[in-house]
Amino acid sequence: MDNIRVSVLVSGGGTNLQALIDRLEKGDIHAEIIKVISSRKKAFALERAKKHHISHEVIRPKDFDKEADFSQALLDSLVRSRTDLVLLAGFMSVLGPAVVRHYRNRIMNIHPSLIPSFCGAGMFGERVHREALKYGVKISGCTVMFVDEGVDTGPIILQAAVPVKDNDTVDTLQKRVLQEEHRLYPEAVKLFAEGRLVVSGRHVKILPVDKDGREEIKW
Ligand code: GAR
Repeated sequence: MDNIRVSVLVSGGGTNLQALIDRLEKGDIHAEIIKVISSRKKAFALERAKKHHISHEVIRPKDFDKEADFSQALLDSLVRSRTDLVLLAGFMSVLGPAVVRHYRNRIMNIHPSLIPSFCGAGMFGERVHREALKYGVKISGCTVMFVDEGVDTGPIILQAAVPVKDNDTVDTLQKRVLQEEHRLYPEAVKLFAEGRLVVSGRHVKILPVDKDGREEIKW
């Protein structure tokens, strides 16, 4: 079976990128990271790509007059490198409709809450955890979804719950959620690579390993 070609879009520290690199290096998922694209020159994620000899590129929204031109540059780069699956991993820009259309149900995003809580425009990284703590939720978590034209509105692939403790700070909650993110995102890639994700409207069905449905799926 050929590996699927994965491009990862980043803007920051890249711990999710690192988790994906580490998991894919084990070799039991038929997927390969062929490119990392950063929207920020100084993103530490780029250092991670360099260290693992992964081709990398900086494409910044501020270098373009129009958002559509930025999106087109991203799309050109993804298509040029024959990307099969796009992973947003702490990518701070919104993808334009041309990219979403071209890669329909082939772009995933990870978000550090249980969607539809604490998500949408402007809800990013630490802010998500701050809002969850302020609200007083007892459970938070993370979500992997397909990207559609909205912000955090696409069909949900996997979610994991994380307890919120009385003495949690933004930092401690973020760390606990990130641990789950690092486990969940590679699992979603594995399911995609095995052709086991079927999207129907808002719903993503996960097919069992064999057609007789013998494997029980546990998350
Ligand atoms: C992660 O927690 C990810 O879920 C979040 O940004 C962080 C990036 O961390 N993404 C969002 O908030 C998207 N709305 P990383 O750069 O260490 O992977």
